[in-house]
Amino acid sequence: MTEYLVEPAARVAGTVRVPGDKSISHRALMLGGIAEGITEVRGFLESEDCLATMRAMRALGVQIEQMSAREIRVRGVGRAGLKAATHALDMGNSGTAMRLMSGLLAGQSFDSELIGDSSLMKRPMERVATPLRQMGARIETLSGKPPVRIRGGAALNGIRYELPVASAQVKSAVLLAGLYAQGQTTVIEPAVTRDHTERMLLSLGCRVDSAHGEIRLTPPQRLEACSLEVPGDFSSSAFFMVAGSIGAAMLTITAVGINPTRTGLLDILGLMGADLRVVNHRSAGAEPVADIEVRPASLRGIQVPEHLVPLAIDEFPALFVAAACAEGETVVTGAEELRVKESDRIAVMAEGLAAMGVPCEVLPDGIRIQGRPERQVFAGGTVDSHGDHRIAMSFAVASARSRAPIRILDVANVATSFPDFPGVAGAAGFNVVTRP
Ligand code: S3P
Repeated sequence: MTEYLVEPAARVAGTVRVPGDKSISHRALMLGGIAEGITEVRGFLESEDCLATMRAMRALGVQIEQMSAREIRVRGVGRAGLKAATHALDMGNSGTAMRLMSGLLAGQSFDSELIGDSSLMKRPMERVATPLRQMGARIETLSGKPPVRIRGGAALNGIRYELPVASAQVKSAVLLAGLYAQGQTTVIEPAVTRDHTERMLLSLGCRVDSAHGEIRLTPPQRLEACSLEVPGDFSSSAFFMVAGSIGAAMLTITAVGINPTRTGLLDILGLMGADLRVVNHRSAGAEPVADIEVRPASLRGIQVPEHLVPLAIDEFPALFVAAACAEGETVVTGAEELRVKESDRIAVMAEGLAAMGVPCEVLPDGIRIQGRPERQVFAGGTVDSHGDHRIAMSFAVASARSRAPIRILDVANVATSFPDFPGVAGAAGFNVVTRP
């Protein structure tokens, strides 16, 4: 099983550029695939998760040319142009791919089956199956988990659906099915979640209205292909925001997507006393982009405001590392969703922090971490990422404040979101060696 050996980082500094946004790359493949004409995608994330979506769209009859690592061309087949795949679609480790594809496939004329790796096969899928059934889809899970089996030929109706959990994946699955429904589809969010689907649908000429937590889609006749630019993934940049905050010199992260539905970590670290400056604001098509300058700071523990949780949902593993380096206690609550990510991120982070000498207490919906502002707060040693990419990268960043090397087990899945993490982290002064 692949592992990282990470030496204590002597000096974290410099400028890094993180790869393209995973959420936006998935959506570009799916929506580009059903648009009319060629969608050019620049800044595409060539990671295992997005390659799973690419293979699925190809299996459904969409031609996708890869011009270079970060540039693809999707030859859209039109809204009604997808064809049955000859086999089950393997979405690998990607919950986003499986849930969004469920929505896309619910309104097709043919049957589909979605499967994934051992982690994905354990993740909840009724959260998308339930609203899709309300729309008229014929969709089955196995006791709530994959495989997801979708019968073709169902006539879908638009619904008004109140999300029981704040989930951009569920919202997006319902909106994708809504493209094939009779009448309008409305999704009501209990809290703001990432809105990349809505922005991309607008770019492709669809009518989407969002106001007061309600998103309303009018089914289009057609989606018009366009050029899409994918910014750097804020969630991948999070590791360097934490690294710069707990390190000893300035770190700059360039060309990061700063869509306000994603940037909760900026607010949370700000409340902890971090020095983060967002500069050079510009845009990449429908998405805002900027550079982020991070200076070392004395962090203090906080109670993380619950309204920021959905806006930082993927950043908690990295935030827990920052909390361990802060003065005093950090408490996270209202984050039970972390238990059903690529791993149970509350349990797995608590296990790793404890192994490195950081006192913490697991809560049903969060964690309590006792931070210490001393220079070498982490003892080093062995931690198990349980195959969770973000946990592996978070513990690598802990090496900025470790007194001994950190061995991180089961790291192959880092390639699902950040293929050259050791290289990019190396440019910032980390020493991450991958071992088979
Ligand atoms: C994502 C939504 C979030 C996030 C995931 C990507 C998306 O999941 O955790 O990494 O691209 O829509 P939930 O919708 O389950 O919160």
